[in-house]
Amino acid sequence: MPERAEPAARRARLTAIHGRIIGPEVLFQMRRLDVGKIVVLLAVTLVVVCAVPNPIRRGKLVPTSTTAWAAGPALSLALNTSLDNIPGTVKATSITKAELLKGTKVVSTATIAGGVASFDLSTCTATGDYFIRVNGDANDLVPTRIKSLTASLNQFVGRKLRRTYIGSLTAPAYKADTFSKGQAQHGVVGYSNGAAVGPAAQCYAIVSKSPAKVEMRVLGSGALLTSYTGGGEHSFQTWVIGPTNHGTSASSGCTGCHSKMSTKPATYASCGVSNGWCYKCHYGAAGSSAGFVNPTK
Ligand code: HEC
Ligand code: HEC
Repeated sequence: MPERAEPAARRARLTAIHGRIIGPEVLFQMRRLDVGKIVVLLAVTLVVVCAVPNPIRRGKLVPTSTTAWAAGPALSLALNTSLDNIPGTVKATSITKAELLKGTKVVSTATIAGGVASFDLSTCTATGDYFIRVNGDANDLVPTRIKSLTASLNQFVGRKLRRTYIGSLTAPAYKADTFSKGQAQHGVVGYSNGAAVGPAAQCYAIVSKSPAKVEMRVLGSGALLTSYTGGGEHSFQTWVIGPTNHGTSASSGCTGCHSKMSTKPATYASCGVSNGWCYKCHYGAAGSSAGFVNPTK
């Protein structure tokens, strides 16, 4: 049969060539199956290489332990010197221990790797404001806001443990500053007379980007003191908190719009843009150095 005769003749021809030369002619005449196998092998290799996650292949994300690798959503906290631009002294040059607190209860203790503290969020039962005790320093708690228990979250804090960015360093969802006992900041005062309220409380201010809102809360408990949603007269996030906040230029030209700045309105509810405006958050025009107010006291 011609089908059988032809391969036999081809084999004979190949054997003859094989004995003499190994060159393009031989390769060209290799059986189709061999070429097919090579193509399949290359394709499989390519698929396997592509399927391995990028960071692992590049050696950037090597799991240090199986528990860390298997863990679910995490809150990571890292020190960042760019957030040292606030008055105070350096409180931490590295993170050696970090605990996530809800009130006085420790809900999670971080694993520390490469200077980054990582909390397993599966130990949290509710979203909201929590506090991080860095290196056991209870007088300089770092606030955090957990909006989701299923998504990982990054947070950065200056070494003074006073200024923190939640979300990212370049476009944080929240910026918070603390007025801590450890940094000798003024405690929370009563709106009625500007005196310390009992039990003694320190404040933190947390600003969100959208909506443009600032909340003054009690450090450690998260209890709300006052809040304000911006209308747009000033560039909100930087005007309320940061190295160029409204307080840094408070001496010039505020009274044009915020008239009667230093006269305290009879009731907290009557504080307005042109009526004792600064008392809405502080006890007067001196700003944070006179304490943030608790309107109920
Ligand atoms: C041109 C008028 C005007 C001047 C001048 C002005 N403000 Fe305001 N400011 C407003 C108005 C109106 C609001 C409230 C509505 C809003 O949020 O835009 C406001 C809101 C604020 C807020 C709340 C945060 C915010 O961005 O809404 C702060 C704090 C504040 N002013 C401080 C100051 C200080 C301190 C000065 C002086 C350095 C000053 N303002 C000068 C009109 C002015
Ligand atoms: C909506 C709340 C709010 C109002 C109203 C407000 N402030 Fe402030 N103020 C803050 C917060 C929050 C800070 C802390 C800023 C920071 O940490 O960067 C602050 C800080 C300050 C500081 C200290 C600045 C510093 O960096 O040390 C001064 C001074 C000040 N405010 C003055 C004023 C004056 C004057 C007014 C009234 C015209 C006013 N504030 C109205 C929230 C407010």
